[in-house]
Amino acid sequence: MSRRPLVAGNWKMNMLKENGTALAAAIAEKYSAVKNPACDVLVCPPALIVSAVADKVANKIAVGTQDAHALKSGAHTGDISVEMIKDVGATYAIVGHSERRTDHFEKDADVKAKAQAIIDNGLTAVICIGETEAQRDAGKTIEVCRTQIQGSVPENATAENVVIAYEPVWAIGTGRTPTADDVEQVHAAIRAEIANKLGQKVADGMRLLYGGSVKPSNAVELMGLPDVDGALVGGASLKADDFWAIISACL
Ligand code: PGA
Repeated sequence: MSRRPLVAGNWKMNMLKENGTALAAAIAEKYSAVKNPACDVLVCPPALIVSAVADKVANKIAVGTQDAHALKSGAHTGDISVEMIKDVGATYAIVGHSERRTDHFEKDADVKAKAQAIIDNGLTAVICIGETEAQRDAGKTIEVCRTQIQGSVPENATAENVVIAYEPVWAIGTGRTPTADDVEQVHAAIRAEIANKLGQKVADGMRLLYGGSVKPSNAVELMGLPDVDGALVGGASLKADDFWAIISACL
């Protein structure tokens, strides 16, 4: 089954309005010049500049946020609802990133509630999962991923409204990655667990991104794996040339 890859940039807490809009515009310009691109491109800037970036790249590449609140509105100081995300032209939101799970104590149930709100508003959720180094060393990688799939993915997830990003926590920002064989094995296990939860058809169509130290030098190998349908890129998405080189591995 052919799945259209997605290459997503997670800018984390980096970039200001001027350099962020310029970075997104540079990527959008290159992407628009490609005839029949074979992948989708998404950038996820810090929330305060999502609106400016979305205005700049409208209808060229997709824009998303790095988090979303599960509720529609109300007394939640500092939070952003999906309705607000949609209002400024973003169409995706990342949820459950390991930095949110660690810094903000988000659990699978929180991630699921956020993903549900994203789906209910007609946007696409990028749900992040992945094991810590200690869990990997204990041989628990697949078990951890299965538990996170069961706990974080809403029951009405489809191949259109949910993307899964497998990001081993120990590979994020470290320059280390699992071997290609390891990545394929985990992705295949994740797809099997999605099939258990949501059925084979949904699992066959759902995009599974790999994230964690993706860079131009390893993108071709990782993106070529049968169950890898794109990348969630942190550090390398902050430089137009590097991010474009990764996108090119899927084009
Ligand atoms: P990295 O981050 O590419 O800098 O490792 C990936 C991520 O956290 O999404």
